[in-house]
Amino acid sequence: EPLDPVRVLTNRSSGKQGYAIAQAAIDAGAATVLITAPTCLTPPVGAKVIQVHTAEDMLGSVLQECLQADALVMAAAVADFRPKRAAQNKLKRRDGIPRVELEAAPDILQAVLKLGDPKPRLVAGFAAESQDLLENASAKLESKKLDLLVANDISATDAGFSVDTNRVILLAPNAPAETLPLMDKTEVAEILIARIAARLEKP
Ligand code: CTP
Repeated sequence: EPLDPVRVLTNRSSGKQGYAIAQAAIDAGAATVLITAPTCLTPPVGAKVIQVHTAEDMLGSVLQECLQADALVMAAAVADFRPKRAAQNKLKRRDGIPRVELEAAPDILQAVLKLGDPKPRLVAGFAAESQDLLENASAKLESKKLDLLVANDISATDAGFSVDTNRVILLAPNAPAETLPLMDKTEVAEILIARIAARLEKP
């Protein structure tokens, strides 16, 4: 989220898990659209790639692509807050320390939820939690009315942001939680896509 033409507010997400999910979806034979903010990663060959920069941009692209998607996986660490105003010109040191007022960024999952038909038959989200993982994630599953939730403990050093491995719990309404051991993000992606495919195959 821009502060001025050179500075942005961002977060520690690398995009690795999202890119791995796009790759796993392609490998499973799905027509795949990867909507991504800037990362250092190479997009998987075979995906339609849409580059976005802000939560607002991502919202527009997600809503557009949802018109023809069977499933949406929201793995992006979208901003919850953004500067209320982005300065048109670079903020200068000589002008003193700026006061930055934040406002809410659009909640993409909430907007998808409000879509009438057609909307994706399956919506999966992520829950990045640093405490009370299962409790917070279960509440998110319900409040966001998700079909699947990947709960992520970001306080662990071998899971979550930036690293290649992840330790997640898969949650679905009215189903027991599936706790996966520490594994590569590519393996998490394959399991998630397999679960999504199985659910889409159900009439
Ligand atoms: N998400 C979204 N739009 C946002 C922020 C998040 O659609 N502006 C999605 C994420 O892609 C993820 C899910 O919401 O699939 C949960 O994100 P998370 O940051 O864990 O939860 P929040 O709803 O932002 O709640 P909190 O930060 O208070 O835990």
